[in-house]
Amino acid sequence: MRPVLSVHEVTKKFHQVVANDRVSFDVMPGEIHCLLGENGAGKSTIAECIYGFHRPDGGTISVRSKELDLRSPSDAIRSGIGMVHQHFVLVPSMTVLENIVIGTEVATAILDMREAAERIAEICRRYNVEMDLNSRVSALTVGQQQWVEIVKALFLGAEILIMDEPTAVLTPQESRRLFAIFREMCESGMSIILISHKLDEVMQSDRVTVLRKGKKVGTVETRASSKSELTNMMVGREIDLGAPRPRGVIGSPMIELHGLCAQGDLGTPALNGMTLTVHRGEIVGIAGVAGNGQKELFETLTGVRKATDGRVVFDGKEVTNHSPRDIQKAGMGHIPDDRFSEGLVPDFDIQSNLILGAQREPAFSKMGFLRFDAIRQFARDSIEAFAIKAPSAQTACRTLSGGNAQKVIVAREFAQSTKAILANQPSRGLDIGVIEYMHGRLTDKRDENFAILIASEELDELRSLADRIVVIFKGQIVGEFRHDAVDLERIGLLMAGHTGEAAAKTSVGEA
Ligand SMILES: Nc1ncnc2c1ncn2[C@@H]1O[C@H](COP(=O)(O)OP(=O)(O)OP(=O)(O)O)[C@@H](O)[C@H]1O
Ligand SMILES: [Mg+2]
Repeated sequence: MRPVLSVHEVTKKFHQVVANDRVSFDVMPGEIHCLLGENGAGKSTIAECIYGFHRPDGGTISVRSKELDLRSPSDAIRSGIGMVHQHFVLVPSMTVLENIVIGTEVATAILDMREAAERIAEICRRYNVEMDLNSRVSALTVGQQQWVEIVKALFLGAEILIMDEPTAVLTPQESRRLFAIFREMCESGMSIILISHKLDEVMQSDRVTVLRKGKKVGTVETRASSKSELTNMMVGREIDLGAPRPRGVIGSPMIELHGLCAQGDLGTPALNGMTLTVHRGEIVGIAGVAGNGQKELFETLTGVRKATDGRVVFDGKEVTNHSPRDIQKAGMGHIPDDRFSEGLVPDFDIQSNLILGAQREPAFSKMGFLRFDAIRQFARDSIEAFAIKAPSAQTACRTLSGGNAQKVIVAREFAQSTKAILANQPSRGLDIGVIEYMHGRLTDKRDENFAILIASEELDELRSLADRIVVIFKGQIVGEFRHDAVDLERIGLLMAGHTGEAAAKTSVGEA
């Protein structure tokens, strides 16, 4: 069988950074081919070269042995290459149908719209995807939006589909379904290139190409490999995140929510009377599909969003609707899930982003002057501790890889908080080595009596880290599990809104 896509000796440089160094791999028809590698290894860059977004400095990309001259994504689309980006590019105020046909030739005539709708419906039927073409994208869950992106790529005729870290927060059931559909696509002759840090997903592929520091380490048959072998190829050592960690001693309440209510961006209720306590020395994990109030919860706790009812008590003091600055000063750190729009100033360099919000603290300023030596030392230490890959501390955060940008936020919030850390999807996009380091630091903080609240799409992560897991659905806590009684299947059902018998049994209410 001949490969459908051949990447041959592709090199891509950004100034002095060699993001891809003579990378070669083949993708066969009907194959799920994973790209695996540490943060900054060059995965997104090679994907964006294949999609015509970057122009390589050397090497060739061929489809069915025909060398391509890709000048833009439309050239790639014409060659049957589709890509679902990590950050969705859908327009929220438009309908599903409009989003799919946008920017394509068929969008010009009403008649064609109808024909387009029929073709899209046909694609949905074929893969058993339920999708209301007339609903607005803003009304869809992240998981549903991901489907819109995939269907759009299929509508544009993709035979080779690139998925760069499908980040959608999927329940275990949804994730199994996604892979079942990937398989169906492959059976009908498509090929999928999947970029993922989630080893469970990677293990469902046919072959894996591992990149390290821009170079290819090797390509292996997934069946003949294992998670530990892949981790080893990727970071040069074995890592096991699954091991349960010693529990800290749980103390008195640190963060208390009493019937907290808040609205979402569109003015609809997002938190519906949430009551929850996080104690000193406790890690509480929030399991839930994105869009069920996690973001609003963290924003209301940190003063960024207004509580419309209910109260927040932090370390014994009422802080409901206090300013973000005051709450931060009281010792609460926050790692938001949308790193580029909320966590960082992309045009600032790494060093400035690391001290953002703390520039007036005595550690970094004296009598109105910034203490540059101290700032530089702090930046150097953070870059080393979190293995932030960048030419220097003066590199603009805008040019960092997804995972490295996330590390800057985590490093800053870890350093600035003194009593509590709130983290929404903290390990999203981080490679396994960094996740291990971050987990270690989080457990250290817990042992220092911090209260820690983490929302994660990775149930395995919550299971190994949290002393208690609560399930969030439509702005309410619908279930609660102690670490020794975690049942992932049931959590999955609760996350999907099933409050039936099986689910209710484990829902023990407030501690
Ligand atoms: N536009 C750019 N300008 C400068 N440097 C860049 C640019 N895009 C990427 N880089 C650099 O290229 C290297 C590879 O980045 P890339 O985004 O491909 O990594 P990745 O493997 O996708 O990592 P992650 O898992 O964190 O997403 C990194 O060192 C990154 O800082
Ligand atoms: Mg990337």
